[in-house]
Amino acid sequence: MKYRAMRGTRDILPGESEQWRYIERVFSDTAGHYGCREIRVPIFEATELFERGIGEATDIVQKEMYTFPDRKNRSLTLRPEGTASVVRAYLEHSLGRRTGAVKLYYSGPMFRYDRPGQGRYRQFHQVGVEFIGSPDPQADVETLEILIGFLGGVGLRELETRINSLGCPSCRPAYQDKLQKELQSIGSSLCGDCRTRVDRNPLRVLDCKREECRALFGNLPVMLEHLCAECDDHMRRVEENLKEIRLPYRVDPLLVRGLDYYTRTTYEVHHGGLGSQSALGGGGRYDGLVEQMGGPPTPAVGFSAGIERILLSLEEEGASPDVEKGPDVFLAAADEAGEAEALRLAHRLRRRFSVERDYRRRNLKSQMKSASGHGARFVVVLGEREIGEGAVSVKDMKSGEQTTVDLESLEGWFGRALEPGCES
Ligand code: HAM
Repeated sequence: MKYRAMRGTRDILPGESEQWRYIERVFSDTAGHYGCREIRVPIFEATELFERGIGEATDIVQKEMYTFPDRKNRSLTLRPEGTASVVRAYLEHSLGRRTGAVKLYYSGPMFRYDRPGQGRYRQFHQVGVEFIGSPDPQADVETLEILIGFLGGVGLRELETRINSLGCPSCRPAYQDKLQKELQSIGSSLCGDCRTRVDRNPLRVLDCKREECRALFGNLPVMLEHLCAECDDHMRRVEENLKEIRLPYRVDPLLVRGLDYYTRTTYEVHHGGLGSQSALGGGGRYDGLVEQMGGPPTPAVGFSAGIERILLSLEEEGASPDVEKGPDVFLAAADEAGEAEALRLAHRLRRRFSVERDYRRRNLKSQMKSASGHGARFVVVLGEREIGEGAVSVKDMKSGEQTTVDLESLEGWFGRALEPGCES
């Protein structure tokens, strides 16, 4: 094999692509029920957009971006996430102009130069939602409701929702200083990664997965206990609303996120069966980002979820969607005359049904094998005799039953068989 897909990327093959389409459809239907409308943003942007949006000190910006100069030496980056681009588009097209607040959804590939492994890829695919313009805690809750509704809608059951608050620019800096000092005092017991984070991004230390480090975190101060009155009230109302709609959750004071734009509410939904990469989706409030990108102060909240991890979790639960569908009709030709007529008949039937053929001019037995390999619902056998009589034999591949049907009335017959309730 001369060429293979690059490490961390994968082909989505027929058989899988139907599952992807199904998941994307459940997502767009769910987001649509909450009034979200689709936005499609470019796959690359100016590097600065992500540096400023996601945060210079994050792992994503420091070591995971696919950044390259274009032919005019401008620095471009393949998007590592969608929020920064959506906010850019919101400002560029004044999307909040008519309604004040906008609710958007998106899906597509994202790129991060991460170490590939189970549930971790270099090109992966997210679906996401951004509510831009509302400070209301109910907006936080509704975005989480979409995420949970979507994951439940594709068939997942073993979900755990974790929420936290990361405060705001008026309460976080003092907490961060306090945390940093405490971390410095236990610095020698922390792992190398944590030690470099203590100075650069102390909150991210709390995200370390190593047991030895986590054992030390129990006594550290947490943001939740250092919130200002407004942030505290916001968190309280988020929790009240979650209880109101009976959405189960757990407060996780150590929940921090890999992007710097968050304020107040943050959340993640995890799946029990995924091991260390168990976050299926995550998000939260980012009230400062629009302003940071050059717009007016505008509160916002959103999330995104990874399709690959959703599919892995479905497999883990034995709940992968069975959405592969064979053709409605397979045309098998018994002889030369049948071959000629098959082209015409397929042309006719394909206006309404999916029709497959063999194309290899093989004997009838091989064609029947191919029909069942394709998972065809019905097989029509077509030859000189059938054409002469103006009637063909139709085999129901489920029941094995054979019926003779007039060539002229095939559409109506298949219509009744395949689309019951639909008058043809
Ligand atoms: P994130 O937590 O970085 O958030 O990514 C969201 C989801 O994308 C993760 O929970 C995971 O399912 C998937 N994901 C991330 N990295 C990888 C990877 N290397 N391989 C496979 N899947 C991955 C964001 O991206 C934010 N933009 C979410 C957000 C939207 N916050 C507010 N609005």
